[in-house]
Amino acid sequence: NVTSGILGIEIYFPQTVVSLQELEKFDGVSQGKYTIGLGQENMSFCGDREDVISIAMTVLDSLVAKYGISYSDIGRLEVGTETIIDKSKSVKTALMQLFESCGNTEVEGLDTTNACYGGTQAFFNTLNWLESPYWNGKYGVVVMADIAVYAPGPARPTGGCGAVALLLGKGSQVKLVPEVPLRATHMENTYDFFKPNLSSEYPTVDGAKTISCYLRALDTCYGRFTRRAEELLKQEKFSLQDIDYIVFHAPFHKMVQKSFARLLFNDFRRDPDNKLFENVQAFRNISMEASYSDKDLEKAFMSLSKSLYEKKCAPGTFLARNIGNSYTASLYGNLACLISEKGNELLNKRIVLFSYGSGLASSMFSLKVVGSVEDIAKKLYLRERLSSRIWMNPEDFTKTLQLREERYGKLNYSPLHSIDSLLPGTFYLEQVDSLGCRKYNRK
Ligand code: ACO
Repeated sequence: NVTSGILGIEIYFPQTVVSLQELEKFDGVSQGKYTIGLGQENMSFCGDREDVISIAMTVLDSLVAKYGISYSDIGRLEVGTETIIDKSKSVKTALMQLFESCGNTEVEGLDTTNACYGGTQAFFNTLNWLESPYWNGKYGVVVMADIAVYAPGPARPTGGCGAVALLLGKGSQVKLVPEVPLRATHMENTYDFFKPNLSSEYPTVDGAKTISCYLRALDTCYGRFTRRAEELLKQEKFSLQDIDYIVFHAPFHKMVQKSFARLLFNDFRRDPDNKLFENVQAFRNISMEASYSDKDLEKAFMSLSKSLYEKKCAPGTFLARNIGNSYTASLYGNLACLISEKGNELLNKRIVLFSYGSGLASSMFSLKVVGSVEDIAKKLYLRERLSSRIWMNPEDFTKTLQLREERYGKLNYSPLHSIDSLLPGTFYLEQVDSLGCRKYNRK
């Protein structure tokens, strides 16, 4: 019996945020394109004082402080990120400066990178360590951190920024455990979103392709997941009805709604005579291939899934709608959001997670809530933190991204932005020297 799992979660997002309604006006696009078309409300971003190392340090240090543990209690620390600022040195090694004062240098784990999926592999690796003979009795921590920025154009409003730290351990204090061996993975070689230009922070994106790759990966994982669940639970038809809550990697909110509807379409294909599907029989013989581009089908299943969506999925979407895509941190931020919104209503419930990273890697897995999560929810105080951010206008947002562009990969500089907007306790970049060594400070 596996007893390893999640004991705590912390999240960090920058204080600076831009409204997508205002950005629509500024960019001169039709009203509703970002807010209704993509379903996003606001987008977090950071200036040149913060980078992937500083946001990872901030979230890790905050987790350690809030959960009252010491850096000497951590035996493994893994990082999932796709925000690359050094082609050799891992973000994990930079985080080791936080362990210096307590003299703990025996901390396994490094970075895992593949678009938005790296955090999931880091999470699986750390669970494996906890279950292995190499486990030394200490905590495992996984940090997912990313700054999602796009070149000007239709992808830019799907950016964002955030970091999550998961505290993992073993024994009676564990709150969420993986439902073992219920897990499904799908990986293949695609060029939907990638970063071949090493002198730019921006990805190369084929937007339409990312969406079809995401949905194909979702279908494949769900097919494998449901078959495995039926075997494991000795149940005839496993469907959305058997899932209490579901959280998705959230590139933008509309994608999450479409993904949920897509799962219902999969249920329909597996059980077309179910009464629930009375009104969508017109799609009974559609091929899987044709189903991806059929707008009537999409509309029909979005409408049919609406009430289930509100119950099972919507509670975990509040954060991502307000900070945007945080790549590796997105899925785990959404889990934190669900916990923050629902608290102990989640007790004994099954939460299914879908992780997707372009290129592509994807997994679907399940967590069972086995202990009170009220304490986690209280420590997150998510809504308060989101509403106390600093609203920047689209012009300043655009200038900030220009500054990041100019600074990317440069040596020998001190950041221009002031630290006034940072909350006390936030780590920030002090200087990059002529060799590229980075020095940080804490507000
Ligand atoms: N009011 C309401 N809806 C509107 C409006 C408007 N004024 N204008 C457009 N829309 C709708 C469209 O009808 C469309 O709806 P649909 O999806 O239901 O068909 C939606 O907004 C998107 O508009 P499009 O013109 O189809 O696409 P756009 O050119 O805006 O690009 C995209 C969207 C592809 C998501 C782009 O932002 C992108 O490339 N983002 C980055 C890639 C990404 O996030 N991929 C997801 C998975 S991979 C990952 O996580 C990075």
